[in-house]
Amino acid sequence: MSEKYFIKTFGCQMNVYDSHRMSVILENFGYEATDNQKDADLVLFNTCHIREKAAEKVFSDLGRAYLIKQERAAEGKNTIIGVTGCVVQAEDEQIAKRAPYVDFALGPLTYHRLPEILTKIRRKRGETVIDTDFPAEAKFDFLPENRSEGGCSFLAVQEGCNNFCTYCVVPYTRGAEYSRPVKEVVDEAKKLIATGTLELNLLGQNVNSYHGEDENGKERNLAYLLRKLAELDGLKRLRYTTSYPADVDDDLINCHRDLPQLMPYLHLPVQSGSDKILKAMNRRHNRAQYLEVIEKLKKANDKLRFSSDFIVGFPGETDDDFKQTLSLVNEVKYIQAFSFKYSRRPGTPAAVMPNQLEEKVKKERLDELQTLLFDYQTKFNEACVGKTFEVLFEQQGRHKGQLIGRTPYMQNLHAKADTNMLNKIVDVKVEQATTNSLSGKVI
Ligand code: 5AD
Ligand code: SF4
Repeated sequence: MSEKYFIKTFGCQMNVYDSHRMSVILENFGYEATDNQKDADLVLFNTCHIREKAAEKVFSDLGRAYLIKQERAAEGKNTIIGVTGCVVQAEDEQIAKRAPYVDFALGPLTYHRLPEILTKIRRKRGETVIDTDFPAEAKFDFLPENRSEGGCSFLAVQEGCNNFCTYCVVPYTRGAEYSRPVKEVVDEAKKLIATGTLELNLLGQNVNSYHGEDENGKERNLAYLLRKLAELDGLKRLRYTTSYPADVDDDLINCHRDLPQLMPYLHLPVQSGSDKILKAMNRRHNRAQYLEVIEKLKKANDKLRFSSDFIVGFPGETDDDFKQTLSLVNEVKYIQAFSFKYSRRPGTPAAVMPNQLEEKVKKERLDELQTLLFDYQTKFNEACVGKTFEVLFEQQGRHKGQLIGRTPYMQNLHAKADTNMLNKIVDVKVEQATTNSLSGKVI
């Protein structure tokens, strides 16, 4: 019987992509997937360091994994515990200290070394192997071919970030920006399409700063890449995330006008509506510039709607600064959003700024912002009732005979549908809406 692996993924879509690529490595190495951690001979935590809570959660999960490892040991079974992702990059010493039972820890840029590390561990028991290199080789050159898990696939095209927003750990955990060459991306897209992908979501921490080389060594932008991918037969939908507002150029805006595959939904994080706070965050855009980009995009495609990330309670944020965030929300009317209380991350410039805010103020502001954001989200969802959307069904619903999919606007939609509609795009008329989902009828 082959050995089993279990992966738990924390954090962003890039981590979901990395976990999928690691599962392909492990399966090529002879492991079989399991959803039950207790059955797993190899337990992997692919971790996130973006906010304190996410990082702390990893240590509590590791504690639990150790207990399971001991239970299994009593039954004569061996368990390898591994940690990957951004917590490793930022806290390798902490892992060795707080969780010495961890067998190996790999940073986000070195997980292609997984087979080598596993071989080492099987040879040398009891020693933690940690690899947090920013390696000279591109990990993508060493990964086995990717394949679809369903109709929607992520495809990493860019990694790392050179922006150094003052609150953010990403430039330290994922390193400097790197863009994969055009051909490599197109080849991976072809593999994914050939194995069932209809929708591709191009990933990068700062995806619209993409500048990969084409076959003649010429640097190409994200717009060029999108146009190339839109030519591929069988690819029905394209998305890209996450974009940095200051790097949205006219080429990219025109893609939203020209490419029918490009979905009418764009995640364009603003973080704050106050120029003073944006400056303190070291963002390369102010409020007016951000709104100008939104206007240009809407002009290129009037169906386009937006989502954003927000941070409340950044050091020095006054009531007036916060009100400007609320007023920006009222201007853009986001249809979805992610909002967070500022979390002090060791090693980032904002962590040592004066005028850190109290937890109570952060919480009040977050509640107020989320009430407003949910209000717009609910209104948009309600306005969809009666309309027909193309829905890509991605998974079985909670009830028998029900499937869950996504509309072009990334809304979750459930409907009564036959399982043969799974991983297909189907017309659905929306009948009901709540803040977080739609339901409808296949037509
Ligand atoms: N505190 C709170 N939120 C943060 N984000 C990044 N760093 C922090 C932090 N220190 C948020 C930003 C970013 C999203 C992925 O996470 O809004 O866009
Ligand atoms: Fe972090 Fe800013 Fe880079 Fe986004 S753009 S990953 S928030 S540093």
